Amino acid sequence: MTDNEQTVSDLGCFEVGYAPMDEMHREFHELVRALQRSGDEGEKLLALHEHLLRHCAQEERWMRDSRFPACECHQREHELLLEVVAEVRRRFDAGDSEIVARLAEELPQWFEAHANSMDAALGVHLREREAVAAAPAQRAPAEEAAA
Ligand SMILES: [Fe+2]
Ligand SMILES: [Fe+2]
Repeated sequence: MTDNEQTVSDLGCFEVGYAPMDEMHREFHELVRALQRSGDEGEKLLALHEHLLRHCAQEERWMRDSRFPACECHQREHELLLEVVAEVRRRFDAGDSEIVARLAEELPQWFEAHANSMDAALGVHLREREAVAAAPAQRAPAEEAAA
């Protein structure tokens, strides 16, 4: 294991307790770790960009479908992230090979803050909705008396 991998592994606090989101976050974690290893940077950047497009779109679908109140703020952070990754890809394609290492170094810190705030709040909201949906329907007192 290299020093870089050790650093990313130590930053792996991306889980929020909502299994489908945690699965995406683990996938993200692996793609960043891959990006920290040299070689095939263009392909790895593409894989990361594709993952993040899917990742952000899925969270935004969850927010819309569950009427999550802080939707716009969370969505703006996603847009910013996707713009940064698109810009890194443009610069890499234009010959800036150091930009990939900078992204791989800085992205885990950004993502940890995002996951522990925006994503964590959404995870709590989605877990609560699941718990309510799974709970047996409570009968009104009048219904109890008539039963
Ligand atoms: Fe996320
Ligand atoms: Fe998010």
